[in-house]
Formats: sequence, C-alpha cells, structure tokens
Amino acid sequence: MENSLLLFSLLLLLLVPSSAQMPGFVSLDCGGEEFFSDELGLDWTPDELRYGEATSIEVLNETRKQYTSLRHFPADSRKYCYTMNVTSRTRYLLRATFLYEMRELIFLATSPTVSVCLSNATTGQPFISTLELRQFNGSVYFTAYEEHFYLSVSARINFGADSEAPVRYPDDPFDRIWSSDSIKKAITL
Ligand SMILES: *[C@@H]1O[C@H](CO)[C@@H](O)[C@H](O)[C@H]1NC(C)=O
Ligand SMILES: *[C@@H]1O[C@H](CO)[C@@H](O)[C@H](O)[C@H]1NC(C)=O
Ligand SMILES: *[C@@H]1O[C@H](CO)[C@@H](O)[C@H](O)[C@H]1NC(C)=O
Ligand SMILES: *[C@@H]1O[C@H](CO)[C@@H](O)[C@H](O)[C@H]1NC(C)=O
Repeated sequence: MENSLLLFSLLLLLLVPSSAQMPGFVSLDCGGEEFFSDELGLDWTPDELRYGEATSIEVLNETRKQYTSLRHFPADSRKYCYTMNVTSRTRYLLRATFLYEMRELIFLATSPTVSVCLSNATTGQPFISTLELRQFNGSVYFTAYEEHFYLSVSARINFGADSEAPVRYPDDPFDRIWSSDSIKKAITL
C-alpha cells in the first residue's frame, strides 16, 4: 500500500512538472526559438509568428535569454498583431518589453482573446522583445470603469528595500515588478 502510494506520487511528479507554472501566465519570447524556464521559474514560449522577422541581438550585460532575441516588422502601414487566449471576465496584467523599455497595463478581458498590435506610427520599424500576460484572481484591481478603460502604472516601489534588485515573481504571486527605493525615489505628488 505504502509502496503504491509512493509510486503514485512519483508518477505525479513526473507527469506534472509543467503545471507548476502559475495559471494564466503566458510569457512569449518574441523572435525566440526554444522553450525554456528562466531563473525565476517562469516558462517562456517562442512566439512562432508567421510574419515579421526574428533576430538575435547582443546587449551589454544582458544575459536573460528572452532579451537576446526580438522580432521586427516592416515599416509599412499595416498592424502586426499577437492574439492570445484569455479567460473572459478576468483581469490581467499585460507587459510588453522593447529591449530597454517596458510598457504595461491592467485590463479586464471582455472576450476569449486579446490582441496586441504593433505598427510604425512614429518610430519606424516596429519591434518587440517579450510579451507577458499575468492573470489576477478575485476582485483585485476592480474599478467601476473597467469595461471601457485600462489601468496604467505610475510607479511601483518597494520601500525599505535591502538591495537594488526589484521584487517580482515568486515573491509577488502576480509577477508585478516592484523597483527598489534605492534606485527609484518616491515621486512628489
Ligand atoms: C557591465 O558590467 C561590467 C562588469 O560588471 C561593468 O563594469 C559595466 O559598468 C557594466 N556596463 C553597463 C553599461 O552596465
Ligand atoms: C512607416 O514608416 C515609414 C518610414 O519611417 C514612413 O514613411 C511611413 O509614413 C510610416 N507609415 C505610417 C503608417 O506611419
Ligand atoms: C487558444 O484557444 C484556441 C481555441 O480554444 C485553441 O485552438 C488554441 O490552441 C489556443 N492557443 C493557445 C496558444 O493555447
Ligand atoms: C489569489 O491568488 C493568491 C496568490 O496565488 C492566493 O494566495 C489567493 O488565495 C487567491 N485568492 C482567491 C480568491 O482565489
């Protein structure tokens, strides 16, 4: 009896390593070629988009694999979109990075998919490094206006931080990124 229980839990361990990932987390490595887990334990997936062009790049002091590739698109008048599955009526953090710059917002999914599109409105050839979705639970970030507006971030500061390293997943279960207050000083409002 004990042996078969042990065998059962061993089998379970063998069968479910990938579901250790937080539910509702999607991490796309744009222009990437392989699946991998980063040092935080987040699972990255190559974007496998049919359009645009994947490129490997070298950035000084950047060793994180997801930033060693990007995807760029023609500087034409078209929009190039990533469409991702979401759970309708659920709130998500959406974070896109463009090498040196991060943009993020929090929105309520109102349909089963969300599209993120790039175009060269002002800056020429559009490119993207990563695209991340982090699902919230319960009523976190509920607002009365969420059907029509998204939330943007002013600042997210970890006061009293003991190092310059940001706090994020797994310390923050939703992988929000809290900058150390030794780098990011409080804003005077
Ligand atoms: C890159 O890392 C080296 C060695 O740690 C350091 O001396 C240098 O200042 C860093 N450069 C940048 C741009 O951060
Ligand atoms: C796209 O970029 C090119 C070159 O920068 C520019 O000439 C063109 O007007 C842009 N297209 C749009 C739709 O903004
Ligand atoms: C998204 O959902 C569609 C329809 O349920 C499914 O066919 C597709 O495989 C899903 N894509 C991903 C990346 O999970
Ligand atoms: C929401 O997720 C957090 C972190 O995973 C968990 O601690 C909490 O119990 C969850 N709350 C609900 C209402 O599911």
